Amino acid sequence: MLKTKDIKTILITGGAGFIGSHFIRFCLRKYPQAKIVNLDKLTYAGNPDNLAEASKNKNYIFVKGDICDSLLVDSLFAKYQFDWVVNFAAETHVDRSLTQANDFIRTDILGTQVLLEASNKYNPKVYLQISTDEVYGDIPKGRFAKEIDPLNPSSPYAASKAGGDMQVLAYFKTYKVPVIISRCTNNYGPNQYPEKIIPLFVTNLLENKKIPLYDGGSQIRDWLYVSDHISALDLILNNGKIGEIYNIGAGHKNEITNKKLTEVILKNLGQSENMIEEAFGLRPGHDRRYAVDTAKIRQLGWRPKIDFETGIKRTIKWYQTNQGWWQKIKSGQYLEYYKKHYNNSKCKN
Ligand code: NAD
Ligand code: DAU
Repeated sequence: MLKTKDIKTILITGGAGFIGSHFIRFCLRKYPQAKIVNLDKLTYAGNPDNLAEASKNKNYIFVKGDICDSLLVDSLFAKYQFDWVVNFAAETHVDRSLTQANDFIRTDILGTQVLLEASNKYNPKVYLQISTDEVYGDIPKGRFAKEIDPLNPSSPYAASKAGGDMQVLAYFKTYKVPVIISRCTNNYGPNQYPEKIIPLFVTNLLENKKIPLYDGGSQIRDWLYVSDHISALDLILNNGKIGEIYNIGAGHKNEITNKKLTEVILKNLGQSENMIEEAFGLRPGHDRRYAVDTAKIRQLGWRPKIDFETGIKRTIKWYQTNQGWWQKIKSGQYLEYYKKHYNNSKCKN
């Protein structure tokens, strides 16, 4: 593994999105000697506002482009000779994957393969694939998915991410590309696109709109504050073992149902449960529970630092004080998507 001071160039794909933009800000601070190249297509989820500060840094280089564009990807690898490649770029929203699966297959599988092909040719020290716990599918109560478990994805999104992981493992076995895969649970924090449950509910409530809780709200997600995901990824890049997979998750002792999460958000915003609009049938194949075994990354020395109570307060505060950020998003195309998706909701019976 390289020492921190030896990292000269890092390719971050999908860096204009939620987690990628946090990772870029982190890298600009921690690796001030390194050039950080952000290759991002700027889909509906990519937002240059997330990187307004970063773009003033002389070490930050933004390239608008598609990870599926093999000529562009090859030319970037040839020019910068990346030490690390970190692939965040993906179509990421489960609900959208129900109607636009082809976009997911294209970016999450084919795009990954294009990056692997270039990595095979130009030999970065580490290729880190940002995967997800959703590849394990629904996990029954009492069980925690281990890295060696078979993949059992439920949605077209999860299946596309699983396909990406398979390409990554194949390039390791066949060509010895120095890959690592991380599989994290649900992230939350500032800059998350308001289609995911936490920013959606918080911003709807700030606009005095109802919040669509799916399927009774008994589903369980293991919420991790985004900075804890970033510290795990940095540790993996520096100390992770090539060819390995690492689960990342908060591992809440008291598991948080969507209903509980909704109550916490309502309470923090001083609103009542009357704001909940029950929504059924919007997510066929809705996984009931995600839970991962994180012993492997904990053995490397990682621990989450932000507990849920602190993280959710901090997150809500951010959306309260950065209304311009999300109001700009919640117009035009966003409203069309919202109407089309949520109008299909059915009553329970
Ligand atoms: P996001 O939707 O906020 O951002 C995705 C980014 O990828 C956007 O900037 C978009 O413009 C870019 N992008 C999409 N297609 C592209 C393409 N073909 N070429 C180049 N750029 C492209 O996503 P996020 O929530 O920040 O997730 C980032 C990664 O982390 C994804 O790979 C996701 O699967 C994974 N992940 C997310 C979570 C979560 O809770 N959000 C949890 C675990 C893993
Ligand atoms: O587990 C990691 C995954 O977490 C990432 O790989 C995905 O990219 C990310 O989007 C997230 O997936 P989820 O499907 O778990 O996140 P989402 O916020 O869409 O939904 C969380 C839960 O909230 C889920 O049980 C569905 C429910 N939900 C979601 C929306 C959008 C609602 O009840 N109402 C909603 O309007």
